[in-house]
Amino acid sequence: MKFLGSKTIETDRLILKAQTLNEQKRFWEILMIPTVNRYYLNVPIKFREKLKDWDKQEKFYQEEMMHANDSDVFKWSAFLKDTGEYIGRLSCHLAQEEDATINNPAIRDVGWVIDPKFQGNGYGSEAAKAMIDFMFQECNIEKIITGAAICNPASWKIMEKLGFERQKDTKMVQYTFLDELTETYVYIMTREHYLMLHQ
Ligand SMILES: CC(C)(COP(=O)(O)OP(=O)(O)OC[C@H]1O[C@@H](n2cnc3c(N)ncnc32)[C@H](O)[C@@H]1OP(=O)(O)O)[C@@H](O)C(=O)NCCC(=O)NCCS
Repeated sequence: MKFLGSKTIETDRLILKAQTLNEQKRFWEILMIPTVNRYYLNVPIKFREKLKDWDKQEKFYQEEMMHANDSDVFKWSAFLKDTGEYIGRLSCHLAQEEDATINNPAIRDVGWVIDPKFQGNGYGSEAAKAMIDFMFQECNIEKIITGAAICNPASWKIMEKLGFERQKDTKMVQYTFLDELTETYVYIMTREHYLMLHQ
């Protein structure tokens, strides 16, 4: 795998850039919207209350941004090309963050959040494809293992449109902001299959 970091990526309507501190307050505000955070699982449930407090979060984002341009960080802020507005975040993180047994940086997971104000315009699909093209075609990652709540078609339709293969077994997942477990689909895409479909 090549560690090229969060290189700027342009699509027809979007620019994806390495994150900066400038957008993080807005990202946090978006994350605090219940229709968004009901699908958030990056943080254990015990930190739920802390997440709601910007003063505590700001320090976390300040530290995270010190590594935004590191070559092993693959996280982007997405902006509209014509207005420059910030619309959300895309990431291609280690699959190990979800499954501690996966000790291989070339096996990744993906995540996406689009501001509800901008949802339903195809931006999520456009940004996700651009990021995944980059990860398979330029960074040469081996595989993506990911998932989405069955009740979240806006997310799993993106995976299906790109040709990800839905696995037979579903998985119960503890999302950060929900008390109960959520049933999710599991999707896999290998490099060979992606390049076969998209080159
Ligand atoms: C998932 C998310 C990023 C999609 O962003 P978006 O910009 O709205 O995505 P798109 O407009 O490209 O839509 C993706 C697909 O979902 C469909 N879709 C969008 N909203 C939908 C809804 N509420 N119900 C069913 N399908 C929906 C779209 O029609 C499109 O499918 P199509 O191309 O077959 O028509 C956005 O909904 C979001 O941020 N959700 C909250 C956070 C989240 O769920 N993250 C993912 C966790 S796995």
